[in-house]
Amino acid sequence: MTKFIVVASSKGGVGKTTTALNLATALMTFGREVIVVDVNLSTPNVSLYLGAPNVPITLHDVLKHDKKITDALYMHTNGLKIIPASQSIRDIGDVDYDRLASLIKNLSGTVDYVIIDTAAGLGEEAISGIKMGDEILVVSTPDMPSVTDALRTIKIAKQHKKKITGVIMTRAYEDELELKKEDVETILETQVIGIIPEDETMRDALQMRSPVTFTHPNAPSSLGYKKLAAKLLGEKYIESVEKKDNTMDTLLKRLGMR
Ligand SMILES: Nc1ncnc2c1ncn2[C@@H]1O[C@H](COP(=O)(O)OP(=O)(O)OP(=O)(O)O)[C@@H](O)[C@H]1O
Ligand SMILES: [Mg+2]
Repeated sequence: MTKFIVVASSKGGVGKTTTALNLATALMTFGREVIVVDVNLSTPNVSLYLGAPNVPITLHDVLKHDKKITDALYMHTNGLKIIPASQSIRDIGDVDYDRLASLIKNLSGTVDYVIIDTAAGLGEEAISGIKMGDEILVVSTPDMPSVTDALRTIKIAKQHKKKITGVIMTRAYEDELELKKEDVETILETQVIGIIPEDETMRDALQMRSPVTFTHPNAPSSLGYKKLAAKLLGEKYIESVEKKDNTMDTLLKRLGMR
């Protein structure tokens, strides 16, 4: 049965798209089939992060031209399947969100997981994204403004009777300047099920137009995403990080082969 997981937060720039792409990649390493759908229709990023800004058929075309949702399905060279939205400002206009939701539901039965990357804010676009999920992952950085916005997202999701699977704490330094996992859990009354460290490797991956979990599988953030995937699957994750770090190792890492 296909599970529809929404990655949400009303705060912008906290790592929703990064989480959607890397969680998808991590689930793939556990042998699951996944599609990432970009329902951030006003400022879509999924295809940009994967180096495919222009594709022939987007989610917008599916909505406008009566196409099948699978007509807008693409596969990245790393095997990750995505359904991107259009980058063209021309395409931003009236969107029938109910129709969008039912088109996305048509993906049921095609893969194990559909991961839905949503827009920031709490407008119609963001809320309709939240409504598309069986369960919601709330993304927050460990600081008060972000956690406050996460609380709003959780409240809205609960109003729509959605299951909140947990909070993903992204860009964590885990120092005295930021909120601790326990603080976040107390404020949000929700479990933190993943901690993704602040990781400079993320910039290398962006440059390589591929999720860090694929380009640098042993990077701290990649391990965080793989642990999260394991937790969602109820499987054990055994770290296999090589401790040695010689020149060849470093070179392979830079090339994304480690
Ligand atoms: N763990 C991390 N370490 C370092 N940088 C990160 C990490 N997670 C995300 N980033 C960076 O933070 C920036 C914002 O991430 P991202 O686009 O995923 O956020 P978003 O919540 O989807 O934003 P928006 O609300 O605009 O859609 C990106 O430059 C991304 O590379
Ligand atoms: Mg985004």
